[in-house]
Amino acid sequence: MARILLTGGAGFIGSHTAAVLLERGYDVVLLDDFSNAARDVPERLRRVTGVSLPLIEADIRDEAAMAAALAAFPVDAVIHFAAKKAVGESEADPLSYYDSNIVGTVRLLTAMHRAGVDRIVFSSSATVYGEPDVCPITEAAALRVTNVYGRTKLVMEGMITDLVRTGTLKAAAILRYFNPVGAHPSGLIGEDPRGVPANLMPYLCQVAEGRHPHLNVFGDDYPTHDGSGVRDFIHIMDLAEAHEAALRRVLARDGDFTVNLGTGTGYSVLDMVKAFASATGVKVPYEIVPRRPGDVAACYADPTMAANLLGWHATRGIETMCRDAWRWQSKVALTNQAP
Ligand SMILES: NC(=O)c1ccc[n+]([C@@H]2O[C@H](COP(=O)([O-])OP(=O)(O)OC[C@H]3O[C@@H](n4cnc5c(N)ncnc54)[C@H](O)[C@@H]3O)[C@@H](O)[C@H]2O)c1
Repeated sequence: MARILLTGGAGFIGSHTAAVLLERGYDVVLLDDFSNAARDVPERLRRVTGVSLPLIEADIRDEAAMAAALAAFPVDAVIHFAAKKAVGESEADPLSYYDSNIVGTVRLLTAMHRAGVDRIVFSSSATVYGEPDVCPITEAAALRVTNVYGRTKLVMEGMITDLVRTGTLKAAAILRYFNPVGAHPSGLIGEDPRGVPANLMPYLCQVAEGRHPHLNVFGDDYPTHDGSGVRDFIHIMDLAEAHEAALRRVLARDGDFTVNLGTGTGYSVLDMVKAFASATGVKVPYEIVPRRPGDVAACYADPTMAANLLGWHATRGIETMCRDAWRWQSKVALTNQAP
């Protein structure tokens, strides 16, 4: 079976992808600098999968460390998750985003090239579409970045497709994620944001736990079925399984492809609040507050390309997303309260 290096493998999407790859018999090597991940993630993964993973603690910007990692663990491909990902922070400190994301990716790609590793799966984002003209969004939609984080994703996408075009890389998958939520069904791994969460689901869970008095719903006057913003929430396990499907193609065929990873169905913020109550029995108080600048009314994927190229589609619904997120969050709350 192939051996795969996961940069940012201790993070939210990386750890769930590691769990799926291990279950499916791949050899997995995790690399992370733990700048945005808990130290106990590898141990939690061991409890989920029964496998003790090789772990390299390194920053992707350290080219010598990347070279040493690839020398110690010759791999067939890299899945490149490691990045800074907070839109607000990227606007406040753009240079650190260029450095971590763009410079880091250049260093990683250079080390891969020198080590003869020429297949990559890359974490991109639906943020590259900016404000879409129409929904569902296909991969052919205009690319309009509206923030520094999105700019770094677009630059990295372009670098990787250039490298395939010039023969420096043999194969690449560019995966544009929509809104990953939920957690592994074991409740042992999940999303663990530092500070106040910027995303809906972790915030919703923290309100349910009593850590915040209510959820702010930003705007109820959008042209959507209930006036709140509509997004394409995708269960993290569906997203992780899509990585395995993309990886299989990248290992088997040369060339590059770009696919949206979403469910194709948009749900509103208020739909999620209702689904959370029905899935967990916890009613979350909310308040309608003014729209946030930069938020779009609706954003959801056309997932046809992923179905055609990868034979993959999302199967888990919003109640499962809420139930799994809550199982994880309630365990985190218990751990945090432990003496
Ligand atoms: N979560 C989302 O909503 C979302 C949506 C679209 C795209 N993405 C992209 O998916 C990828 C993974 O996101 P995530 O939600 O798992 O984020 P995350 O922060 O949980 O995971 C990223 C991991 O990379 C590590 N990391 C960061 N900089 C590093 C560096 N310089 N060297 C080594 N490790 C480093 C962090 O410690 C963390 O464990 C990112 O590239 C992100 O931009 C995420």
